[in-house]
Amino acid sequence: MRYKMHEQLIKQIEKLKAERDAVILAHNYQPGEIQDLADFTGDSLGLSIQASETDADVIVFCGVRFMAETAAILSPEKTVLLPEKSAGCPMADMITAEQLRQLKQENPDALVVCYVNSSAEVKAESDYCCTSANAVEVVKSLPEDKRILFVPDQHLGQFVAERTGRKLVLWPGYCTTHVLITTDDIKAARAKYPDAVVMTHPECTEPVKDVSDELLSTGQMLKFAARSTAKRFIIATEIGIIHTLKKQNPETEFFPASDRAICPNMKKITLDKVIGSLQEMQYKITVPEEIRIKAKKSLDRMVEILPEE
Ligand code: 13P
Ligand code: SF4
Repeated sequence: MRYKMHEQLIKQIEKLKAERDAVILAHNYQPGEIQDLADFTGDSLGLSIQASETDADVIVFCGVRFMAETAAILSPEKTVLLPEKSAGCPMADMITAEQLRQLKQENPDALVVCYVNSSAEVKAESDYCCTSANAVEVVKSLPEDKRILFVPDQHLGQFVAERTGRKLVLWPGYCTTHVLITTDDIKAARAKYPDAVVMTHPECTEPVKDVSDELLSTGQMLKFAARSTAKRFIIATEIGIIHTLKKQNPETEFFPASDRAICPNMKKITLDKVIGSLQEMQYKITVPEEIRIKAKKSLDRMVEILPEE
């Protein structure tokens, strides 16, 4: 019965998608059924590139607000819909444009690199944008003598500082989901599965990263697992990605480092909300043109600098 209802919802979405000329993009942290129905799943960088290249009239962004906003900045001629209006990112809310302007005033000669997990206004105040997949390459591309302000994620910033050897001024923001993963979680998981490789997202805290094997964005985790000969992995990031890891690697076992690593905002998107979004053309995400043009400059740099394979 449940299966049949699910099938009907999917059919309805397919029909509406064709009527609206829509494409569905889903982040790797989305609920499994949303990832399964999407035209493209991926990490923030991959989805931004998809959003900037698609021919569709409408983009239904199954993710959180800053991702839909990024799509609207890169593709202003498209209608970008976020199926649940309250799906935000607490980390993105940890710095305002006003706070960034103040920081810039205190560091007048510095360049600003902002993580894509930020508002359009903050992107507009930044020189470069990056995702967790290319943050290292973006910072490496900047002149050595320049002071760099890195906002808002202190943990990604710490990882970038270590990989590049650059001293960064870090903003004290963080992901409320990734900081729930502890070193005790990793130790307990390693004790249970001693042969497993620990893949960890750079948004985790430094002590957690220190006891991990591989530090990767979600897209990089998918690539790494596909190429690896390891048969067991411990995954230290939001647990939604385990759905796709298992689907793409049916012979491999994947274990979450912590069952608490669930992003409540990512889980707000449901099949019903996707239907509502396509039916009512809601919730339209737009960015005022003046901010969009400035924010696009830093985002264009982000999509140009690809991570090393
Ligand atoms: P990536 O998609 O870059 O791995 O980002 C993780 C994240 O927290 C997105 O909100
Ligand atoms: Fe924001 Fe963290 Fe959720 Fe990503 S996982 S959307 S960074 S709160």
